[in-house]
Amino acid sequence: MSNRTFTMIKPDATKKGHTGAILGMINAAGFKIVAMKMTKLSKEKAGEFYAVHAARPFYGELVEFMSSGPITAAILEKDNAVEDFRKLIGATNPAEAADGTIRKLYAASIGENAVHGSDSNENAAIEGDFFFSKLEQF
Ligand code: CMP
Repeated sequence: MSNRTFTMIKPDATKKGHTGAILGMINAAGFKIVAMKMTKLSKEKAGEFYAVHAARPFYGELVEFMSSGPITAAILEKDNAVEDFRKLIGATNPAEAADGTIRKLYAASIGENAVHGSDSNENAAIEGDFFFSKLEQF
């Protein structure tokens, strides 16, 4: 599983109609989509997904935002997937994201930052399994 990562195209990018462009950038960067679905998180599910941040001051805001509209969840495959995908999306705060990154192009703020990317191989597997059964992971 070390060549896989997990992503969500968040409610802000979905609402603004950037899903297709972001998936295009993901494909152009050499990632293969091995699972994908458009869905909407309940507050409970968003809270569960981001439970690791429960003690942070922004947790309530994060859960509200992530349950505010549809998202696209996907598992991506590529050599060195976790690290390479984090390079493609750019820094969490779009103000600090490098030119040409997804967040530089499409994110408005640190809270509404267009995309999620796993931060480790272990979390990539946990997060992918949160959304997809083994039968849905190709
Ligand atoms: P993500 O990569 O999905 O992982 C955790 C999320 O918490 C992060 O992207 C941001 O959207 C959000 N986040 C991190 N720091 C802050 C902050 N200071 N204020 C609001 N949201 C934040």
